[in-house]
Amino acid sequence: MSDLFDFAARPALYAVMGNPIAHSKSPRIHTMFAEQCGLSIEYRAIQVDPGGFAQAVSNFRAAGGRGLNVTVPFKIEACKLAERRSRRAEIAGAVNTLKWEDGERLFGDNTDGQGLVSDITRNLGQALAGCRVLMVGAGGAARGVLGPLLEAGLGQLVIANRTVDRAMDLAMRFAGRGDVGGCGFEALAGRQFDVVINATAASLRGEVPALPAQLFTSAALAYDMAYGDGPTAFMSWAREQGAARVVDGIGMLVEQAAESFCIWHGVRPATAAVIAALRGGSRG
Ligand code: ATR
Repeated sequence: MSDLFDFAARPALYAVMGNPIAHSKSPRIHTMFAEQCGLSIEYRAIQVDPGGFAQAVSNFRAAGGRGLNVTVPFKIEACKLAERRSRRAEIAGAVNTLKWEDGERLFGDNTDGQGLVSDITRNLGQALAGCRVLMVGAGGAARGVLGPLLEAGLGQLVIANRTVDRAMDLAMRFAGRGDVGGCGFEALAGRQFDVVINATAASLRGEVPALPAQLFTSAALAYDMAYGDGPTAFMSWAREQGAARVVDGIGMLVEQAAESFCIWHGVRPATAAVIAALRGGSRG
């Protein structure tokens, strides 16, 4: 009886799983959201070894866990593990949010694309409808956001990748959803875009994709889905190249978290103060 009572009194348990996970900002973000909404939650960062994801999810549930965020490298595995998936998770082939529904069924969703679109359109005030958008990269990060991006009504989407075949494959997969093409970096010479999104893993190593010069229109937005303690290598390059606005992925990170929060708690937190707090923190 006393065990039951203690269990009920404990804050609801949530977590993010990934590898590496030590520097995840998700615990801080979700704690700020919960305070804002007057909810009592505990949000952990759990490092999971390769091959141990399904077991870790099961252990977490057994410990009373209610919902999970999933990050690199487990998003595809999380998609397979989910017993029911949202349409956007099916399209992405990846899940970043898990929730145990009534009857213990595991529901998987993907809030990354919505997070990116919300940050660009709402926070940055950059319309996407009718725009020429360049997606640099054709890995999981790019694929995870293409569905919601295309639903924003882009004029044209070009996916460019170092390994051309991967760009072509991804473009083919999304071909029915808008004007989508795939190419290598060299084929971009002479073309210009209103929005250029970096979804490569290059920033994580301080590298810049070998893109041609003069890619940006005069009012162009350069958006790096990555973030760090200062401007990423892609952001510095874009600034030198004359992009009108250059941003990192902190806003996307907070917006995707807000969408996950809403899925779990049924209430949408405000994001501006949380983005400001993270930027303040990350820029020392
Ligand atoms: P993720 O799931 O993070 O997208 P991924 O599937 O390994 O990871 O994809 C990484 C992406 O970053 C790919 O588009 C990769 O290009 P390749 O397909 O040619 O490997 C891209 N990438 C990584 N480092 C890069 C670099 N230095 N320059 C350009 N592209 C890079």
